[in-house]
Amino acid sequence: MRRPLPWITAFALLLGAFLIPHSAYAAQTLDSLAKAKGRYFGSATDNPELSDTAYTSILGSEFSSITPGNSMKWDTTEPTQGGFNFSNGDAVVAFAKAHGQMVRAHTLVWHNQLPSWVANGSWTADTLNAALKNHITTEVGHYAGQVYSWDVVNEPFNDDGTYRTDVWYNTLGTSYIANALTWAHAADPNAKLYINDYNIDGSGAKADAMYTLAKSLKAAGVPLDGIGFQGHLATQYGFPSGMQANLQRFADLGLDVAITELDVRMVLPSDATKVATQNTYYTNVVNACLAVSRCVGITVWDYTDKYSWVPGTFSGEGDATLYDANLVPKADYDAVVAALGGTTSSPSPTTSPTGSTSCKVAYTANDWGSGFTATITITDNGPPLTAWTLGYGYAGNQTLTTGWSGNWSQSGKNITVTNASWNGVIPTGGSVSIGANFSYSGTNTAPGAFTLNGSPCS
Ligand code: XIL
Repeated sequence: MRRPLPWITAFALLLGAFLIPHSAYAAQTLDSLAKAKGRYFGSATDNPELSDTAYTSILGSEFSSITPGNSMKWDTTEPTQGGFNFSNGDAVVAFAKAHGQMVRAHTLVWHNQLPSWVANGSWTADTLNAALKNHITTEVGHYAGQVYSWDVVNEPFNDDGTYRTDVWYNTLGTSYIANALTWAHAADPNAKLYINDYNIDGSGAKADAMYTLAKSLKAAGVPLDGIGFQGHLATQYGFPSGMQANLQRFADLGLDVAITELDVRMVLPSDATKVATQNTYYTNVVNACLAVSRCVGITVWDYTDKYSWVPGTFSGEGDATLYDANLVPKADYDAVVAALGGTTSSPSPTTSPTGSTSCKVAYTANDWGSGFTATITITDNGPPLTAWTLGYGYAGNQTLTTGWSGNWSQSGKNITVTNASWNGVIPTGGSVSIGANFSYSGTNTAPGAFTLNGSPCS
């Protein structure tokens, strides 16, 4: 090979000095901040979302790890007995590989999303054990060496700490738990094996039941590596009590602990108090994990309100994730960044006074019984804006038909409007007016709270 001319070499080095970012200027992401603390920061995702390029560019750059929200569940992977289909799960694994991410695989033994041949089969202990062993051996074997961890058993307990009476417990008693872990370990000895549940984040009967189970499995030498705390929180239910101490007692059994499905929902419409509470809950979860050395990472149950499972599952609730439905980071994102030790452009949201506002919104509706025209005037009382996103929610079934002077969209009860190309600039003290038509039936209550670029308005 010919040696490059010296001037070319010098030029290449000079160019390199400009093109290769100095580490001090490397982009700050949830991934980089978490890794600096020896943790990962992950997100759930799902196959239909992988064709949304605006979504995947954030998924691929901000997160250290991804979890398939549905595509490794039993109804997808073995819809008929012995008929396996891994194509959706494979697509999630391929995305992770292409973006240098880990995969938290989810989930093998659960009461939900079972095909009817499993849920409604007439089983004996022997035939169910054989079906379970075959499912685990085949699926875990298929992904062996490609995933970081498995949620082997999901949601084994009722909220009062008794065992959930599903097909597994009813047919096999508690034996299915140790067996599932043992079979998974045989199929992929390197995957970290978890039991995962909700409402075990803080102290209580359900967390105690999980603790007793984990302790007995460890004492029996069953291959259990970690406990997953789902972290599906809600502003109206309070923050789990003693979360850090609860994580620590599991870690003290010699287990990893992880927050596996974090989101913080609220009853819509959003208001400044709920947002402040939500910011605090996100901060508290990150702080609890960072305070426990065996808390290995945090996964959010999708990172954007665009794809959150919350509105479809909890009627009238939403706004639960770090990014709004237009993929704009919310104050929750800043709260997580600050808790991870990163820098935020605005002061830490948890220290700003509750209800502080930098914008004012005037809302009027011209109602004709089955529909109405909403006119909204936004006044910026904060720093000058070059782009804006307005968010608010309706309590009823108001449905957007057409909007103007901005890009209007609706997700469940949430309305999001981003500026049109010509009205993104609002100087301090300036206003823009926008409008839209809606249809509805029943009551048409005016929205109570608005946010502008994630901050509450009066
Ligand atoms: C949810 C998915 O996000 C939804 O798309 C699906 O319709 C239902 O399941 N706890 C879990 C997850 O362990 O598997 C659930 O995921 C959310 C609650």
